Amino acid sequence: MNVIEAIEQRRSIRKFAADPLDEKTVLELLAAAHHAPSGNNSQPWRFLVVEDPALRERLARVCHGQLWMAQAPVHIVICADLSAREGSGERFDEETPGMDAKRVIRDTAIAADHLLLRAVELGLGTCWIGWYLQDEIRPLLAIPEQVFVLGVLIVGKPAEAPGPRPRYPLAKLVYRETWGIPYCLP
Ligand SMILES: Cc1cc2nc3c(=O)[nH]c(=O)nc-3n(C[C@H](O)[C@H](O)[C@H](O)COP(=O)(O)O)c2cc1C
Repeated sequence: MNVIEAIEQRRSIRKFAADPLDEKTVLELLAAAHHAPSGNNSQPWRFLVVEDPALRERLARVCHGQLWMAQAPVHIVICADLSAREGSGERFDEETPGMDAKRVIRDTAIAADHLLLRAVELGLGTCWIGWYLQDEIRPLLAIPEQVFVLGVLIVGKPAEAPGPRPRYPLAKLVYRETWGIPYCLP
């Protein structure tokens, strides 16, 4: 599979088979994420792998009761560590202003997407879960306050094959040379 095939075939999967993932596979996913580029090569991403069924269920409850999440045998909690930048030690939550916070989120999001695409290549299903509050998810996993939970990527063998979700026409999103001038895609 090449990169464009992985990009085009990725879907958010919300039904999973019970089959567990082996550690080698999990490490392959994490290695792909760790190849991501980051500003100043700061690599602010941190990963927390949750496999314990009871903890997965508690995670699903914190994510506004999305209990179907718990079916996925592995939950990879993608974290952005502000201490990788100047803002070391500061509390980092939904209200945090400042460029360092934006930078570590930006870089960590790239790593997360690498992981999602590698999962497609390995025949795995994923869904990025982002519906929770920092102050509710962090205590559950003993995550410190300068670490922002960017997403919970749930991973497993897919038990559904949804079609592509719609995207806005690219022509509406692309400008030529200066803002507002349509690129005029065919
Ligand atoms: C930052 C982020 C947060 C998301 N949070 C959730 C979520 O909490 N629950 C859920 O079912 N899907 C969630 N999704 C999945 C989106 O709904 C999905 O990506 C979108 O509908 C497009 O579908 P596709 O991923 O199949 O292309 C999230 C995706 C992203 C990128």
